[in-house]
Amino acid sequence: MGSRSAVFMVLCFLLQSSAVEVVATVNATLNVDASSSSGSPIPDTFFGIFFEEINHAGAGGLWAELVSNKGFEAGGPNTPSNIDPWAIIGSASHINVETDRTSLFDRNKIALRLEVLCNTTGDNICPAGGVGVYNPGFWGMNIEQGKKYKVVFFVRSTGSVNLAVSLTGSNGVGSLASAKITGSASDVSNWTKVETILEAKATDHNARLQLTTTTEGVIWLDQVSAMPQDTYKQHGFQTDLYGMLANMKPRFIRFPGGCFVEGERLRNAFRWNKTVGPWEERPGHFGDVWMYWTDDGLGYFEFLQLAEDLGALPIWVFNSGISHQEQVNTTAVLPFVQEALDGIEFARGDATSKWGSLRAAMGHPEPFDLKYVAVGNEDCEKKNYRGNYLKFYSAIRSAYPDIQIISNCDASSQPLDHPADLYDYHVYTNANNLFARATVFDRASRSGPKAFVSEYAVIGTDAGTGSLKAALAEAGFLIGLERNSDVVHMISYAPLFVNTNDRRFVCVFVLRWNPDAIVFNSYQLYGTPSYWVQLFFWESSGATLLKASLQSTLSNSLTASAITWKNPVDGNNYIRIKVVNFDANTVNLHISFDGLDPNTVHLSGSSKTLLTSSSLTDENSLSQPNKVVPIQSLLQSVGREVNVVVPPYSFTSFDFLNNPQIFRFLLLMYKD
Ligand code: AHR
Repeated sequence: MGSRSAVFMVLCFLLQSSAVEVVATVNATLNVDASSSSGSPIPDTFFGIFFEEINHAGAGGLWAELVSNKGFEAGGPNTPSNIDPWAIIGSASHINVETDRTSLFDRNKIALRLEVLCNTTGDNICPAGGVGVYNPGFWGMNIEQGKKYKVVFFVRSTGSVNLAVSLTGSNGVGSLASAKITGSASDVSNWTKVETILEAKATDHNARLQLTTTTEGVIWLDQVSAMPQDTYKQHGFQTDLYGMLANMKPRFIRFPGGCFVEGERLRNAFRWNKTVGPWEERPGHFGDVWMYWTDDGLGYFEFLQLAEDLGALPIWVFNSGISHQEQVNTTAVLPFVQEALDGIEFARGDATSKWGSLRAAMGHPEPFDLKYVAVGNEDCEKKNYRGNYLKFYSAIRSAYPDIQIISNCDASSQPLDHPADLYDYHVYTNANNLFARATVFDRASRSGPKAFVSEYAVIGTDAGTGSLKAALAEAGFLIGLERNSDVVHMISYAPLFVNTNDRRFVCVFVLRWNPDAIVFNSYQLYGTPSYWVQLFFWESSGATLLKASLQSTLSNSLTASAITWKNPVDGNNYIRIKVVNFDANTVNLHISFDGLDPNTVHLSGSSKTLLTSSSLTDENSLSQPNKVVPIQSLLQSVGREVNVVVPPYSFTSFDFLNNPQIFRFLLLMYKD
């Protein structure tokens, strides 16, 4: 770096730091009309999540499968095929490994052939640990002492087999768990399914799965899986990552993409019918936008199951006959339309219907609650989109009149030229721009389809890998969306997850998306400040938006909203004021409540939740996961007027218990 740019960077740093440090105090007033008649309902579906298979969010993330490329298909259907990340144990004089097309499964024909040249006796003695293959998982398997792992694989051989199936350290040293699998020649002359449970006697976050032998002969392996037994409800979701989603209490989950749905090429797009049925029969596919292979263990069924487990409505995005580089002509799009209809039938058809019966065979005879579908992703500007969209729209509307159909075309500033129930709105930009967009829906038409803000985030320098600055700008934007919840019916951040190991492989050809709400490796995780901002909004779903007017000189950097909501756990009503101060000044905020129930003399038993940090660039990390997290403290009761202090560069929610019976006097008392 030249000295001039170094000076410039130091200057920027000083300016940035001083922006945080020079603190004046500004007065502001928020008048809240708390009368029930003034409020307007916020949709039940307001706050949700968007899951895309990006950054190894699913494969090597939420989907708990430990083996990567379990069917040896990642190298493509032709042989010789690339078996990465599988690797060979043993030298060429002891073992020869190659791929062939002899698999039992028609949709994934590649199998692994191991020709073992060594033995326990004779001239060519096998090494003591045996020879074979190992799989390191997705940057190391997390194996934990006392936990059980179900290993399943398919095997065939020309003779008898004597295999060791083991979980070991990353270099093959140190057995964490092991089982012997033996079979006579007649047992394994045809493909045979083997299942064994391994219980770990030690912990290693960077373990691998090995299949080894010391017996000469030819063995074929296929569809090798290792699943932790403690997934959420045994549904295959990694428990910690699932917990991060459950904490968000999402009312919907949009899936499975994003660009993942489109593909660079249609042949690499997510197609639901290739991801259902028994896991070992699924072909898997190479997601050529995010450039990695997925075995599709997390398939369409599992996404629907995930939605149900979370208590969230599934929002299925399907391919509209358009990839990044191809467009099917509208005259030829009917097979895609039929595929979408079949997918809807799979989700909600009767258990005796063609596709509903497959769902039932997979263990879910009851229909899933699919009420929303999106036709394509970010395809509005494509020449064939409208034509294709209308084909999907009329077919779905006539077969399933209750399903809400989401268009890719933005109607926030002009009416749509086609029918839709909702329209998709995506925004990725810098912090100031996103904060300013809080008012974008103030100008949107109050009639016509509603907005689904299904992807938003601050990106670029302001965001780093998940900064406070990005989160505060997003909080301001979300307050604007909440204030416009008569027309904005759904909101979700993007992307949701990143496996931090995936960031290491950035090159000009492979785009890795940054930032992301939840960051993890094989055994650790944290939420970025953007994750925590979202948690301030789940109560908004189904709440009532109160009229609130803010007077301040910081009109471009201070924003607030007020809602009233009923907590189903304690049955109490709360008034929640959320305030974003996107400015270097401290704000003395005077809040007054009008229109309270005449019996409510005071608002009592309340709390404050504050998200801030000493620098706008502060981020959480695996070593400091809680550097920027919300801190909750109790407030003593407050009356119909209250003064609160809002720190510079902060997001605060004040929750006031609105219980007409309670009469207590009040002062703010902060724990922190
Ligand atoms: O969220 C990352 C990507 O951003 C999504 O795949 C796409 O819809 C958008 O361009």
